[in-house]
Amino acid sequence: MYQLYSKNSNSLNGVIKVPGDKSISQRILILGSLAIGTTKIEGISYSEDVNNLIKNLKLLGVKIIKKKNLAIVRGAGIGGLSPTTKKLYMGNSGTATRLMLGALCNQDFEVQFNGDKSLSSRNMYELIKPLRQMGAKINCKNNKLPITIKGFNETIPIIYDQKIPSAQIKSAILIASLNSPGLTTIIENIPTRNHTEILLKKIGAKIQIKKIKGKNIIKITGQKELNAKDIVVAGDTSAAAIIGSAALITSQSEIKIKEISINKTRITFFNILKKMNAKIKISNKKKISNEEVADITFKSSSLKGIHLGKKTVANMIDEIPIFSILATFAEGNSSFIGGNELKNKESNRIKSLYEGLLACKIKVKKKANGLHITGNKKNNTMVKAKIKTYYDHRIAMVFLVMGLTSKKGIVVDNINCIKTSFPNFVPLMKEIGANFFKKN
Ligand code: S3P
Repeated sequence: MYQLYSKNSNSLNGVIKVPGDKSISQRILILGSLAIGTTKIEGISYSEDVNNLIKNLKLLGVKIIKKKNLAIVRGAGIGGLSPTTKKLYMGNSGTATRLMLGALCNQDFEVQFNGDKSLSSRNMYELIKPLRQMGAKINCKNNKLPITIKGFNETIPIIYDQKIPSAQIKSAILIASLNSPGLTTIIENIPTRNHTEILLKKIGAKIQIKKIKGKNIIKITGQKELNAKDIVVAGDTSAAAIIGSAALITSQSEIKIKEISINKTRITFFNILKKMNAKIKISNKKKISNEEVADITFKSSSLKGIHLGKKTVANMIDEIPIFSILATFAEGNSSFIGGNELKNKESNRIKSLYEGLLACKIKVKKKANGLHITGNKKNNTMVKAKIKTYYDHRIAMVFLVMGLTSKKGIVVDNINCIKTSFPNFVPLMKEIGANFFKKN
């Protein structure tokens, strides 16, 4: 275990880039593996989650070459994977697990998915249910890993009316539909991140999306050949949200983060920041690989509290941890109410945030599927708080950010988990002036 503590810092400054978006990186690796031809992926995230996915795709017979900032994937085609193993190790990644369950549920071989302690405690029922409805043969206990998919199946198309918003589950069904004959329909009642749809269109999938009364009706026809296309991956919005927030809560700070994905399904957090009076400026908008990107500048701010409902939470699901930290610095009260999905992330985030905020002596109350946080502009954690991360990368990073205003420091119990999404977080934060110290 590697502990780290963060302490009073001001004047965080710099013009930086964050790693490539993890969601896009994982999707293009899988879709590139199922396409015909070679996909060059520039700016890919080499986080541990992505590295594990690359290892697994190689074990499934896909040729992938890793270069510095580039991955080259030689696609095997839909139905063309040829495994050299019956066991995959997915590490910590819920996204890779769900997307690959979709990709492998109708191949002609058997395979078992395994994961680390955090991943093995996550419930996969919401995905297993529609995949079984499609005809996939899935064996597991309590809907958790290890999960075995029995091969030699043909799946059939379904109409999936999504009740709990989840980009991972939508994407897994879309990927499963690629090797199902006929027309699969997804009714997305609360739209979530749409990187899979954007990439599928780009590589020639037969996909159509209609917006009706705030819902997305997605129709996709399976067993159509996909054609590899080169991709440049935009900067990770959720990583940028955490670093940018460090500038908002520290004095005399200004950080510009370049080429962040500002895909409409990812920028809710930045819109909420504006409502909280944050000094942020979006500039240099452009499109790369069909995704909108921009530079965002974050300056020291006096924030005010805000209350977030279910739909907003679904659209900033990965930003709820950093929002909770900002809420402690905002004038007045803040709150959020999510669905159950917040409890099924890398940790039960309601529990881990609640415990962490309590350790920092913040006034916080549990609500059904949410938290109520009493802010204080001069929030300056006077206690030496120790945070339990439950091996959740976002919990580790956001409490290290919170510690930047603390005289006594905040200690995070185990920062190893940060590498699952953002391996250079600590050096990058130090580079812009954060006081992070090793705990002896
Ligand atoms: C992701 C979707 C989100 C998010 C996760 C990545 C994705 O989960 O929390 O970190 O890449 O599809 P949901 O499935 O709850 O939307």
